[in-house]
Amino acid sequence: MTTQPVPPAQPTPPPPAAQAYLSELFSLEGRVAVVTGGSSGIGRAITGALARAGASVVVVARGEAGLTATVGELTAEGCRAAWVSADLSTREGVRTAAERAVEAFGEPGILVNSAGINLRPPMDELGEDVWDATMAVNLEAPFLLGQRFGPGMAERGYGRIIHISSQQAHRAFVQSGAYGASKGALEALARSQAEAWSPRGVTCNVLVPGFVMTPLNARLSSDPEKVAALAARTMIGRNGLAGDFAGAAVFLASAASAYVTGQSLFVDGGLSVH
Ligand SMILES: NC(=O)c1ccc[n+]([C@@H]2O[C@H](COP(=O)([O-])OP(=O)(O)OC[C@H]3O[C@@H](n4cnc5c(N)ncnc54)[C@H](OP(=O)(O)O)[C@@H]3O)[C@@H](O)[C@H]2O)c1
Repeated sequence: MTTQPVPPAQPTPPPPAAQAYLSELFSLEGRVAVVTGGSSGIGRAITGALARAGASVVVVARGEAGLTATVGELTAEGCRAAWVSADLSTREGVRTAAERAVEAFGEPGILVNSAGINLRPPMDELGEDVWDATMAVNLEAPFLLGQRFGPGMAERGYGRIIHISSQQAHRAFVQSGAYGASKGALEALARSQAEAWSPRGVTCNVLVPGFVMTPLNARLSSDPEKVAALAARTMIGRNGLAGDFAGAAVFLASAASAYVTGQSLFVDGGLSVH
């Protein structure tokens, strides 16, 4: 018996109907996004995902090197991106950031709050300075940016607010301290924002990472035993990568998630349910 040689499978583009269907659900073409902390780690991956899905993205952080590298990479690919250097640890800094962020592409329909700090002093040594700094960046800046952009989104009938919280919002974990308190409150803020603005088309949700190897975790990441122990606590069997947040962020920023609001979506390899 002879058999016909089978040619190797060629990648074929999806049929036009599939492309149109996917676009309707997930395309961010015509949308403007502001991503705080978009110059590093999880925020940088989310910035790339939103821009590649079609959004014009403004990245807000302090350090110009990270900002220019992030925006340069995206504009070189033909994406639309701009940056604003601002310090979100003061109310004045947040106001300035918001005003400058709209200069590039106009008022945003998507706000991602990824800027965050984790100072981790032991509880006995946790002073008011660490408490204040943590609350300012992790909780107050997302609140103020929500107050600045949320009502406008509601008036225009479309908005997506995405916060990045943490396991520490749900359980004590690696010196939760002020950090855990700020993230717990951030998830509560998301629910209140969802209650206020969802009837007018603005959904507000939270992405909850596990342990992700980013500069935020530089100290912990340099200890191979701790890294392996954390990976073993997941179901997938590895720690998180910034890129793991791309799909979830596009989903929560897009039309596809119109009926999802006030939720915390764990992107943690099963860490929280193990
Ligand atoms: N990595 C993890 O395992 C993990 C786990 C749970 C939750 N998270 C959360 O995920 C988010 C992103 O974390 P990451 O791991 O991606 O951290 P990262 O790589 O350290 O990035 C933090 C980002 O926030 C910006 N930022 C920090 N302080 C700022 C300030 N005062 N004003 C403006 N921008 C500021 C940083 O830029 P500049 O320093 O240049 O300002 C940077 O772009 C955070 O909210 C974090 O709490 C991370």
